[in-house]
Amino acid sequence: MSILKLFQMVFCVCLSIFIFGQQRKIISSPNNTVSVRVSVANNGEATYEVFYKDKIIIEPSSLGFSLNKPKITLQKFEVIAVDSSVFDETWKPVWGEVSSIRNHYKQLKIRLKDKNKAENLLNIIFRVFDDGVGFRYEFPKESAGQPNALKHLIVKDELTTFNLAGNHKAFWIPGDYDTNEYLYNTTKLSEIDALKAANKETDIALKSVIGVNTVQTPLMLKTSTGIYLNIHEAALINYPAMNLTLDKATFTFTSHLVPDAVGNKAYLQAPFQTPWRTIIISDKATDILASKTILNLNEPSKITDVSWIKPQKFIGMWWEMHVGKSNWFKEGNKHGANTENVKTYIDFAAKHGFDGVLVEGWNEGWEDWFGNWKENVFDFVTPYSDYNIDELTEYAKQRGVRIIMHHETSGSATNYERHFDKAYQFMQNHNMNTVKTGYVGKIIPRGEHHDSQWMVNHYQRVAEKAAEYKMMVEAHEPVHPTGLHRTFPNWLANEAARGNEFNNAPNLGLVPEHETILPFTRLMGGPMDYTPGFFHFQLNQYDASRKTRVKTTLAKQLALYVTMYSPLQMAGDFPENFNKHLDAFQFIKDVPVDWDDTKVLEAEPADYITIARKQKGKPNWFLGAITDENNRKTSISLDFLEDNATYEATIYQDADGADWQTAPELYKIEKKTVTNKSILTLKLAKGGGCAISFMKM
Ligand code: NOJ
Ligand code: CA
Repeated sequence: MSILKLFQMVFCVCLSIFIFGQQRKIISSPNNTVSVRVSVANNGEATYEVFYKDKIIIEPSSLGFSLNKPKITLQKFEVIAVDSSVFDETWKPVWGEVSSIRNHYKQLKIRLKDKNKAENLLNIIFRVFDDGVGFRYEFPKESAGQPNALKHLIVKDELTTFNLAGNHKAFWIPGDYDTNEYLYNTTKLSEIDALKAANKETDIALKSVIGVNTVQTPLMLKTSTGIYLNIHEAALINYPAMNLTLDKATFTFTSHLVPDAVGNKAYLQAPFQTPWRTIIISDKATDILASKTILNLNEPSKITDVSWIKPQKFIGMWWEMHVGKSNWFKEGNKHGANTENVKTYIDFAAKHGFDGVLVEGWNEGWEDWFGNWKENVFDFVTPYSDYNIDELTEYAKQRGVRIIMHHETSGSATNYERHFDKAYQFMQNHNMNTVKTGYVGKIIPRGEHHDSQWMVNHYQRVAEKAAEYKMMVEAHEPVHPTGLHRTFPNWLANEAARGNEFNNAPNLGLVPEHETILPFTRLMGGPMDYTPGFFHFQLNQYDASRKTRVKTTLAKQLALYVTMYSPLQMAGDFPENFNKHLDAFQFIKDVPVDWDDTKVLEAEPADYITIARKQKGKPNWFLGAITDENNRKTSISLDFLEDNATYEATIYQDADGADWQTAPELYKIEKKTVTNKSILTLKLAKGGGCAISFMKM
């Protein structure tokens, strides 16, 4: 990995700027598009403002903390020193949407002391990028002459606010301590009603809704003048997740941290740095999707030998349980994870070149897994008697396929931790290198929340422990991702949102616009295990009473492999449904899971997205275009293709008459010879999409 590093500690301005008694400092991004102004007023109050192309985006907003131990409020400050620096480096992710990333920002670090005390108690660090801002708090290390400096502290509340400059359009889900599996709402800020939205969501088993005015991040916003804003956090480590509570009189959001089982927010030991609060800004929606600021705010990989980390495609002995063909628990002859059935999946994976086969319901405990709040349901090493794991290990190995492990914890994260070593050793013994974890239900025994500090630490412990055994991880029902896949590249993906599997939920399920919002919200924090690739739309194949259905066309299911970035992609449906459409299935076989380059060609949240990506190490490109419930016609210039080269384009598109509601399975496949001078006109049906492979000839 070649890294060009340029780090300049430029200057230290001590108490430099006094304007009408208040201290102020402005810092602008490398190309001056984004600026931050930090002020400490006469009365000691510290605020920040954010500007984009000289327009105010975030009006004066508060900074500070209220602590339970010691019982103090850190909100009245005096500036001790201000340090400025510039950073410019280009780094190479282990896997990703692009093969190299520039991390270029200007930094301001303000060292503050409590107005009434002598010690340096809090620092605030701002990093200003050309497409946004990150800022974090730092409780500094105690140093000589600071007898009262903070050592161990308990956070009651973080007092950060985001004072927006207007009644923007917002794409939001209700604030919640335990789940992020909601449908998105699009309203003005003044119209947010998170309780009403959450009450509609009768398919979510475990909700801990915070209140009428509280929403989750990543929060996507659009101003009336067409500026796009995304508020989230980066590097969520040893700290609870942030929700945002809106004051509708001023359009000000205040940070609302997820509490622990007894109501505290975080237990910290100085020196400590909080996660970054991030604001991504652009007048182009496509720039929001292309932003690398959240990744740049995370630390480089902690894993030095990354040779064993591999993006992958897999199928699963999984959807057949969801649609009622079989089940997870060993009960009569409908147990899905039996040796013979799993062999058919391994055969299919081998025949079509998939890396893995996920097998759920393989281990004892499923009879008891949900709703009983029992601690020791699973031991993660005991297969059901009809699942011959040794035989299947050998069978898969001979065919060049790996079984993907499933560790459903049913919310008992402590039980999982007690079994970590044995569980990962068992995986190693059975030639597995990837695990899907799950946290369905309440977190027991203490009643922690899925998004509290303890659980945030748990998800990280899983990634770290798995890395010791060279295992890759993807988590279902975890906290929202914050770019930690840069630091732990074996943590390939997460669910942490309403995935494609929710098409099977009896009430709201999904809506056609869902996938046009997710990249602007959930995916800002990192890859999602969305499980695209459903080829059968009425989900009553095995149970005629089911009313559930997939709300896209087949072509859109293909396009999602490009628009929903992940290094871990599942082909969601099961072999018998793929076998009915092997010509369309060819796109899933061809589409890569690792990329050299990505061009976000068109995008508008809740309406449409078109993205082209270049395969890692190969000259081929792939394009995905999706729309919401409206049909759409668009002309795409292929100028991203290489000069003087010819490509065979295979276009998988909605056929005439296709419609997610009435004719989702109508698709047509066309081949064309194209160059980078060509323009393609794409016609997307209602709820439709288009997927294209460009193979260099
Ligand atoms: C919920 C997960 O999202 C799903 O993929 C899994 O099959 C079930 N839990 C069972 O663990
Ligand atoms: Ca729309």
